[in-house]
Amino acid sequence: MERLLIKGGRPLYGTVATSGMKNSAVAILFATILTEDRCIIENVPSIMDVTVAIKLLEEMGARVSKLDETTVEVDTREVCQAPKSDCLVRKMRASYYLLGAELGRFGACEISYPGGCDFGQRPIDQHLKAFCALGAECNQEEGYIKIKSEKALQGAKIDFDVVSVGATVNALLAAVTAQGTTVLSHAAKEPHVQDLERFLLACGAKMDGIGTDTVTIVGGEKLHGCRFRISDDMIEAGTYLIAAAACGGDVCVTMDSTSVLAALIEVLRAMGVSLDQTESTLRLRQSGILRPISVVTGPYPAFPTDLQPQIGVLMAITMGESRLYERVWASRFQYLTELRKMGAQVKVEGDCATFYGVPLYGAEVSAQDLRAGAAMLIAGLCAQGKTILSDLHHIERGYANLLEKFSSLGAEIEKREE
Ligand code: EPU
Repeated sequence: MERLLIKGGRPLYGTVATSGMKNSAVAILFATILTEDRCIIENVPSIMDVTVAIKLLEEMGARVSKLDETTVEVDTREVCQAPKSDCLVRKMRASYYLLGAELGRFGACEISYPGGCDFGQRPIDQHLKAFCALGAECNQEEGYIKIKSEKALQGAKIDFDVVSVGATVNALLAAVTAQGTTVLSHAAKEPHVQDLERFLLACGAKMDGIGTDTVTIVGGEKLHGCRFRISDDMIEAGTYLIAAAACGGDVCVTMDSTSVLAALIEVLRAMGVSLDQTESTLRLRQSGILRPISVVTGPYPAFPTDLQPQIGVLMAITMGESRLYERVWASRFQYLTELRKMGAQVKVEGDCATFYGVPLYGAEVSAQDLRAGAAMLIAGLCAQGKTILSDLHHIERGYANLLEKFSSLGAEIEKREE
């Protein structure tokens, strides 16, 4: 089993470049199915979820070639509806974008339930609501999701009951192929959803309201291939910033647009961290005492749930009482069990975790999911003593060159086979 040995208590210094966004990459890779053409995708991160998405595309007959470290060409001209390996589908959440993409191209799709992080219930009712509105029949039987449409999909008004990234992505994928106009209300507008919208536009789709919660799609245009650059990953960038705030030091994070991190920047500044922002750089300097704070997660542009465990670690070491409200997922505080092993004083009541700041010390802990794993890594880096972190496969799903990047900032981390 591979584990990380982390020697904590060192400040971080240097510059780290952000990689392409995981949640854009996985949506866009599956969206290429709609083009029946060649697409060149740039800034694709080297992470396990991308590897799995590419394997699934190849199983269906796509030809995928790596043009350089971060650029892939996907040729979906020969793609057919081959059965997918359930074990690949269950390795991540985004495999359910096959539903929208295959419905759009072939009029049908059948896959097993997807995997991804365990946050308790992860319903798909809003995805099915969108498919049904466009004219598809949807069934869930014995662990499989089956959708099909005998006739061409027809544009429709779809008003989501909850703001859902996945349902918005799936609705967009199906709607661009539907005849006529589709209007999505209460759509998600996360930067990764906007990336997908821009990718579909680059392929010839007709769409209005990009980046807003009301998106109008005039469907039925034949899509073509394109060259597209994925935006940098705001969650990865945010993870490095929080790590620097927790460890102290002077770290510059570069990314294509720092404005997407406005909610995190506001929180870090309110905690007393010095942050200089340009359009493409965020320089964080931290040497003083942090102030306790209250943070509430929500759909973009609110504070992202995917940075909630990481900011939780910062609250855990901030003297005083901080409160963290998780308003996206019913169950995303599991990492606190691990954080308590390192000395954290925290009480959970409903959707609120209250932290009573104390110094952390090294311990043997595990990564319970992707962002929980990133949080425990930060905890190990700012704790006194040694931390051993296991279940690294969760972290490898979503962070490109994690060890190299942290080591370049002066972190003492070593991967060990034990
Ligand atoms: N929801 C429903 N019904 C649905 C879909 C969602 O009730 O049909 C609810 C969920 O239970 C949740 C809320 O809506 O309470 C938001 O869920 P959403 O559908 O937006 O989440 P997702 O699409 O499954 C994506 C990211 C997650 C991120 C969430 C929220 C991808 C592949 N995953 O998940 O990312 O936490 O949006 O921003 O894009 C991660 O990267 O670590 C990660 C978990």
